Amino acid sequence: MIVLVTGGAGYIGSHTCVELINAGYEVVVLDSFINSKEESIKRIENITGKTVVLVKGDVRDKDCLRSIFKNYSINAVIHFSGLKAVGESVANPLKYYDYNVMGSLALTEIMAEFNVKNLVFSSSATVYGFSDNKPIPETSQLSPFNPYGQSKRMVEQILEDLSKSDASWNIALLRYFNPVGAHKSGMIGEDPNGIPNNLMPFVSQVAAGKLKELSIFGNDYPTKDGTGVRDYIHVVDLALGHIAALKKLNGLMIINLGAGAGYSVLDLVHTFEKTTGIKIPFKIVNRRPGDIAIYFADATMAKEKLGWQTKYSLEDICRDSWHWQSKNPNGYNT
Ligand code: NAD
Ligand code: UD1
Repeated sequence: MIVLVTGGAGYIGSHTCVELINAGYEVVVLDSFINSKEESIKRIENITGKTVVLVKGDVRDKDCLRSIFKNYSINAVIHFSGLKAVGESVANPLKYYDYNVMGSLALTEIMAEFNVKNLVFSSSATVYGFSDNKPIPETSQLSPFNPYGQSKRMVEQILEDLSKSDASWNIALLRYFNPVGAHKSGMIGEDPNGIPNNLMPFVSQVAAGKLKELSIFGNDYPTKDGTGVRDYIHVVDLALGHIAALKKLNGLMIINLGAGAGYSVLDLVHTFEKTTGIKIPFKIVNRRPGDIAIYFADATMAKEKLGWQTKYSLEDICRDSWHWQSKNPNGYNT
């Protein structure tokens, strides 16, 4: 079975390619490398010992998509490609709607043209917005509050309508919580541009001495230690969730992919210190605008519908993040 992986050179895509190949699938990657490096494809090949077919192109380019479906007998698509920086989406919303919404429209149009109707889509828990539910089930109210989140919800709506209009589509909308960690080989991992916005890569770079100290955004939230609580999911668990979804594709499925447990910023910092033996200097600063106190998944549906649940712990996450960071101090820019 051949799977087209859009954005397969990126953080989650590269880990998913490895697990797809391990599970016996053939992989065709479409990536423009706007937020990744070709080196990640070489590393996927090194880890798996298999060749990855790589098409360098843009998912919004319908001719490029047509040539892929003509040249390869694609059975299913996992659609990761898109832009994901919340702040940038606020500053440049049109770019986000173009990449994320138009890209998905072009892809589904060409999939329909070639009668390939099996699709797994990267959505985000950000579609829930300021949810009062703790944990958050899939049935929660949806209220994304920035252009990035809106673009994800728009694509979800498009795919829901598509599924209603034609029952032969099989679509999984996967809402990820906080993907972190790296492959245990230390060969692939998250390679953010510039100073990381997200907690785990920031902590790793403080540990590596690239950044002086962590700023913890607020310690006055209504949580056990006052710092924000999130659902950190090991990227390999997340990758395996995609394979479980691919195997169970049947009509429309909307599923949270999270560990179903919340950890505070200080939990993560202390676990990182304990696991790696490296002290993380930090200071408490003001809350980050737009942050939510507590956000974690109700992961029951994934267990029931996909037979999937996370197997890696916060210790595994910290160990593997540090392994990747210490082996690749400059990410893929070796
Ligand atoms: P990433 O930026 O590492 O990977 C995205 C990949 O898509 C990159 O390789 C990029 O070069 C490629 N790409 C972007 N636009 C493209 C286009 N128009 N044509 C072809 N390739 C293009 O991001 P990631 O963390 O791996 O995220 C993958 C998906 O999961 C994204 O859709 C993201 O919104 C979603 N998601 C990510 C997170 C997270 O925290 N990482 C959380 C929830 C959802
Ligand atoms: C961020 C995005 C969200 C996206 C998610 C994916 C924002 C506002 N939200 O959310 O849309 O889906 O990543 O992983 O960017 N923290 C610090 N110091 C730091 C960085 C983070 O204290 O330097 C805290 C945050 O306040 C939060 C926790 O760590 O409590 C996790 O932050 P982060 O990794 O940025 O993820 P999210 O806030 O969940």
